[in-house]
Amino acid sequence: MIKIDDLYFKPFLSAQEIAAAIDNLAYQINRDLAGENPIFLGILNGSFMVLADLTRKFSHDCEVSFLKAKSYEGTSSTGVVSLGDELDVNLKDRTVVIVEDIVDSGLTISTLSRKLQQHQPKELKIATLFLKPEVYNQELKIDYVGKNIEDKFVVGYGMDYNNLGRNLPELYVQTERMKNIVLFGPPGAGKGTQATRLKDKYGLVHISTGDVFRYNIKNGTELGTLAKSYMDKGNLVPDEVTIKMLKAEVEKTPDAEGFIFDGFPRTDAQAKALDELLASKGTEIAGMVALEVDDEVLVERLLERGKDSGRADDANEGVIRDRISVYYKQTAPLKNYYAAQNKYYGVDGVGEMDAITERLSTEFDKL
Ligand code: IMP
Repeated sequence: MIKIDDLYFKPFLSAQEIAAAIDNLAYQINRDLAGENPIFLGILNGSFMVLADLTRKFSHDCEVSFLKAKSYEGTSSTGVVSLGDELDVNLKDRTVVIVEDIVDSGLTISTLSRKLQQHQPKELKIATLFLKPEVYNQELKIDYVGKNIEDKFVVGYGMDYNNLGRNLPELYVQTERMKNIVLFGPPGAGKGTQATRLKDKYGLVHISTGDVFRYNIKNGTELGTLAKSYMDKGNLVPDEVTIKMLKAEVEKTPDAEGFIFDGFPRTDAQAKALDELLASKGTEIAGMVALEVDDEVLVERLLERGKDSGRADDANEGVIRDRISVYYKQTAPLKNYYAAQNKYYGVDGVGEMDAITERLSTEFDKL
C-alpha cells in the first residue's frame, strides 16, 4: 500500500500488464491506420506516458501533438471540461487519433471530439489506454481501448491524484486506509473472544500471538518448544522470537484490510518493531483499544476457562496471579506508548459479551 497526499492506494496493474494493454492498443491502431500518416493528439497531462509508449509501437509514419484538457478535481469529475490552448497543427482532411490515458464518464472526450470535428478532419478516432465501461455514458464510439477496468479511481502511469503519482510506472487503485488495531488488556479480559467477533464484523485479520505460539508448540516446532519454556512459567516469550513470527503472519495476507493484533505488542520494543514493520508496508497502527477488567474478575474467569480449555497456564491460581502481575509490571506500561500518540482507547470489559462488543465497535468505528 502507498499513501499519496491524504489517500491510500494499493497495487492494481503491474508495468508488464500496462505494457500488454499498450500492445493491444498499438496492435489495433497499426492494423487500421497504416499508410494514413495519422496525427496522434495526446490529451494532457495524463496521456504523456501512453503517447510516448504507443507511438513507439506504431510502425508507420505519424505526427504527434498535444492538447490540454481538465475535468477532474481530486478523485471525481467536476462535470465541466476546461480546454487549454489552441492546436498547433492543422487537422483539416487528416486522420486524427485522440489519445487518452483513461476515459471515465466520457465527458472530456466527447466535448473534445465535438470541438475537434469543427476542424474538419478526414477521420477522428478515439483511443484510450483504459476505459471504465460501467460509468461511460456518452453516445460517442470509442474506437480503440487498451483495457477495460472497473469503476475505481486509479493513479500512476501518467494519471494523478492532486497532481501526484503520475511518475509511478505501475497503476494503483484507491483503497481504504488499513485498520490496524492493537487489542489490549490483561489475561482473561476477553480479547480472544472479542477479536473473533470484531474480525468478522470489520473484515480484519486476527493475529493472536498466543494462538500462533500454541500452534507451534502443538506441532513441536523449534520456535514452539522455545516459547513453551517461557509460557509455562507465566513469563513472556523474548521479543526477537515473537517479532519474527509476527512478521511472517502479517506477510501471509498481503491483501488484508487490516489486522487485529491480540497479545502483541507487549513491550515498547515490540511496539517499535511493529511500527517499523507496518511503516515498511505503508501503513500504521490506528489505535490501541484496551479492555479494562478488575483483577478478581480476571482470576475467576481464567479459572473457569482452565476447566475446559486444558491450557496449563489457566489451571492454577498461582500461575494466573503471576501472569496478571507480569502484565501490570511489563505490559500495562505500553498503554503510555500509544497514549503519547493519542492512540489509546479504554473500554469497560465487564458485562454482557454483546454489550462489550458494542463498546469496542464504537471505538473501532472511530479508527
Ligand atoms: P471523464 O471526462 O469523466 O471521462 O474523465 C476523463 C479524465 O478524468 C481523464 O483524462 C483523467 O484526467 C481523469 N480521470 C478519470 N478517471 C481517473 C482515474 O481513475 N484516475 C485519475 N484520473 C482520472
